[in-house]
Amino acid sequence: MSDITLTVDGQTITVPQGTTILQAAQKIQRDIPTICYHPHFTPPSLCRVCVVQVEKSRVLVQACSRVAENGMVVETDSPRVRLARQVILEMLNSAVDLSQAPEIQAYARQYDANPERYGKKIERREFPLFDDNPFYLRDYSKCIMCWRCVQACGEDVQWTFAIHRAERGFDSHIATFQEIPIPESTCVYCGNCVQACPTGALKAKRAAWLEQGLDLKQLARVSNLERREKS
Ligand code: SF4
Ligand code: FES
Repeated sequence: MSDITLTVDGQTITVPQGTTILQAAQKIQRDIPTICYHPHFTPPSLCRVCVVQVEKSRVLVQACSRVAENGMVVETDSPRVRLARQVILEMLNSAVDLSQAPEIQAYARQYDANPERYGKKIERREFPLFDDNPFYLRDYSKCIMCWRCVQACGEDVQWTFAIHRAERGFDSHIATFQEIPIPESTCVYCGNCVQACPTGALKAKRAAWLEQGLDLKQLARVSNLERREKS
């Protein structure tokens, strides 16, 4: 495969054809934020926080999935890029509970995202907590619809397809098929979705109990009880 040459933030670099803008930028230690992107999954290009400015492109382009082209001139931190990232992070923070998403909170600080500036006009996404199986909790009030759990459950890792998207627009959320409880779904409790979730919307019960201050003995007792009740 031949190489291509592009310019990123004024620096000329040569990368193999097929390299994404994100990978090219990482090669010269440019820091582009990502949320929905996971290095082992197919980029779903949903959150748009990784957008960069490409010369002669009318719109900002997502660095995580856009393949770099020969002669491309890219700016990863221009005022337009920073403003786009700021607004995306403000929107996320104003509608979703991101209290357990430290990486996104760090981005919010980095880009001066201030959800307060939308006042009371913002409606928050609220969902009931799903506690329907012995292994993990699902709290979709913390979900940013990044799709990483669906990819982990599906074609990128596990090929189990227990979860997907339900509803549309503001009400869209991750769910099992016809919203059946997890034990009735095809879930095999591999834990890949929990690992992939960047916001704590999916959480192992043991982690949740440890956070509540249970010691190891209490944890074993609660865990056994749960398994008996839910099996
Ligand atoms: S549950 Fe987590 S991994 Fe799945 S879409 Fe929501 S935030 Fe992303
Ligand atoms: S990280 Fe690129 S669109 Fe989400």
